[in-house]
Amino acid sequence: MANQLLKGKKGIIFGALDESSIAWKVAERAHEEGAEILLTNAPVAMRMGAIQELATRINAEIVPADATSMEDIKTLLETAAQKFGKVDFILHSIGMSPNVRKGRAYTDLNYDFLVKTYDVSAVSFHKVMQQAYQMDLMNEWGSIVALSYIAAQRTFGKYNDMAEAKALLESIARSFGYHFGKKSKVRVNTISQSPTPTTAGSGVAGFDKMLTYADKMSPLGNASALECADYCISLFSDLTRKVTMQNLMHDGGFSSVGVSEEILENIQL
Ligand SMILES: NC(=O)c1ccc[n+]([C@@H]2O[C@H](COP(=O)([O-])OP(=O)(O)OC[C@H]3O[C@@H](n4cnc5c(N)ncnc54)[C@H](O)[C@@H]3O)[C@@H](O)[C@H]2O)c1
Repeated sequence: MANQLLKGKKGIIFGALDESSIAWKVAERAHEEGAEILLTNAPVAMRMGAIQELATRINAEIVPADATSMEDIKTLLETAAQKFGKVDFILHSIGMSPNVRKGRAYTDLNYDFLVKTYDVSAVSFHKVMQQAYQMDLMNEWGSIVALSYIAAQRTFGKYNDMAEAKALLESIARSFGYHFGKKSKVRVNTISQSPTPTTAGSGVAGFDKMLTYADKMSPLGNASALECADYCISLFSDLTRKVTMQNLMHDGGFSSVGVSEEILENIQL
């Protein structure tokens, strides 16, 4: 289903770890739609090797960068500027919580870990945009997207401190969207995606049950990683130029349902 929606556009994609990653699907779809891409991920992700395979397939350069390091971000964006001149789109598809990884309960958080959760999963979005803003890297009518989850608005017990990180991420999108819109007509949005079987997703305790629950609650069923990629493409294209500072639900209707028949049918009295 390629329509050359991104023909001539250049973009930076953060977070393709393996074939299941949402960012991986976005990179493949953006390539199909005619975009040129620069891939980036944390140096540790390079050692896993899969991103090299994607880069070869879509003819993209890879620049390793820890998204919490201003030095790495500067080097990355300077490389993008040398390669592309200006950039049309950026995808931030990064999330990690040491509290989740180390099995700390929400009621027993390690606060050094909490700061790391915020830095990796939310503040990194500000860091990337601030560097791009100060370098005047974005083309007019460019588009910047980050990926969020509904735990920013509603409580999902096992999502832990990532809930606060997503709330911060969505707030940063709104605030920076104002400044980037004023400066160079760049739009900034978050997509709030259904639970999706990926490395980061599966790290949340009870993930399989959450996935099934969301699927049964959503009249259209859960949105897949590929469907999320399609939505990202629409937001990078010129067809959504006045959509900005929004948290956009991409969840098959989950967020508007109180309870579904399928869930009620499974309750034993
Ligand atoms: N999978 C889900 O259920 C789901 C649902 C809604 C939103 N999201 C969000 O989608 C985004 C992508 O996650 P995914 O599900 O594709 O999982 P993933 O594990 O494939 O991607 C997460 C990425 O973050 C990268 N990363 C971690 N620390 C980093 C750092 N310091 N610097 C640079 N990169 C770093 C990892 O290397 C990895 O590529 C995340 O923001 C996640 O919270 C996921």
